[in-house]
Amino acid sequence: MSPNKEFWSSSKGFVLAMAGSAIGLGNIWRFSYIMGKYGGAAFMLVYLAAIFLIGLPIMLCELSLGRASGKGPLEAMTELAPKKTKLSFLAAVALILCATAFALKGLYFYAGTCGFFALGALLFGWGFLGFTVTFLTPLMIAVFYSVVGGWIIVYAIISPMGRIFREPAFSAELLDNIVTASGSQFWVTIAAALAFFLATAFIVMAGVQKGIERFSKIFMPLIFILIVAIIIRALTLPNAHEGLRFLFLPDFSKLSAEGVMAALGQAFFTLSLGSGVGIAYGSYLGRSSSLPKTACTIVIMDTFASILAGLAIFPLLFSTGLSPEEGTSLVFKVLPVAFGKLPLSPLWGTLFFLMLLLAALTSSISMLEGAVQGIMQKLYLSRAKAVILLIIVLGPLVPLTAVSAANYSNVPKLGQFFTETLKLRSESFFAILDNTTCLWLMPLAGLMTLLYVSYVWGNKSALEEMNCFNAFDWLFSKMWLFVVRFISPVLVIMAFLKGLGIFF
Ligand code: PHE
Repeated sequence: MSPNKEFWSSSKGFVLAMAGSAIGLGNIWRFSYIMGKYGGAAFMLVYLAAIFLIGLPIMLCELSLGRASGKGPLEAMTELAPKKTKLSFLAAVALILCATAFALKGLYFYAGTCGFFALGALLFGWGFLGFTVTFLTPLMIAVFYSVVGGWIIVYAIISPMGRIFREPAFSAELLDNIVTASGSQFWVTIAAALAFFLATAFIVMAGVQKGIERFSKIFMPLIFILIVAIIIRALTLPNAHEGLRFLFLPDFSKLSAEGVMAALGQAFFTLSLGSGVGIAYGSYLGRSSSLPKTACTIVIMDTFASILAGLAIFPLLFSTGLSPEEGTSLVFKVLPVAFGKLPLSPLWGTLFFLMLLLAALTSSISMLEGAVQGIMQKLYLSRAKAVILLIIVLGPLVPLTAVSAANYSNVPKLGQFFTETLKLRSESFFAILDNTTCLWLMPLAGLMTLLYVSYVWGNKSALEEMNCFNAFDWLFSKMWLFVVRFISPVLVIMAFLKGLGIFF
């Protein structure tokens, strides 16, 4: 089934849509809070290594699987090779071992999760990996992403009034209430998160690829211009150099095992890997594009966006005396202070949050696209009905996540349930979704994809799919195959072991 083959109007349209998916809240909101939490430059180096040695190779795997199969993430792998192989069986055995280890430690929730994955791998082989990257991971991300998207909607609405920029004390309290869904903002935050989620769903329902392409073309450059304006302002503030030191002078003593895992997770999140997007979007790509060139362009654009965001946020942070360890609300507290220092702050503020909203939407749309494609194929539903099904299933989770962002201070019973009954270490449902997807599901799916391409689908087919046009493409593809087979999987496994405290 390939009615979508002509989907992207051009290679450039595809690059923009993929960049639209990659560049989003991950580059500004998540990158800065994670980097603040794990200590700056040393983290950044691990992150960059993860981007180029793990992220780029996996993106190429995903794009080539999508294009070669012509199918979305749900069926791509079972289309190209047998459903069950020795490797899928081995993965199931490894998962059973993990489940046993967790059960022995009394961590029954994690044990159950591993057991669930083991069963899936045993019964459905590679089809289960397809299921995970189509439904599980991207939809979990879509839920917590909607909460952050909701914060941005509220910011975009209150920015034109200008008070949050003029009165720091007022803004500190209001903003705190928004990101923690407390006090007067309880319902506002819930409504905004739902609004973001529904907006995403309706755009996907309308079949917006053309819209996304057009949006991205106009708004992506604009967001870059705005970030550069903020960088210039930030760098001319007193103490800005502290921010630069934090960004660029590595202090490896600050790098924890957790930090290494976080860098890996961030690399996956920011490039939208291990969540079906590359396969879904790749399935709409024409044969004439060279994959090495497109993948490199997307990865470089995304990395550039994150570094620019860091250049804007950290100098600002140090010059305003805020702590980089603020957590998920970091940019939401820092940016209004920054805009307050610019002339015409309500204008810049509003523009910026609107841009951010658009960047967030081009990402969140990509989270739903693979699932919608999968539902349409499997249940023979129309696009509209597939989206409605998603709204019914996911919708209720959005408010739950929104109110949990503040450690359940508003709904302590729910908090107790998660931390005491289920014995989850993470403090909120929001954090659970964020951590589970970025630290576990995405890297694991990435690892399995690497192994699938090397040992199941095979190097020869993968190389053919690259479409090499010149010596660079060819050399790059050869190197890529080597990295996919021998380097990236080893690095992902090492990061896991380090994260679990088993390795160095
Ligand atoms: N890459 C997006 C961002 O940086 C997030 C994302 C993750 C999008 C997974 C799709 C799938 O904001």
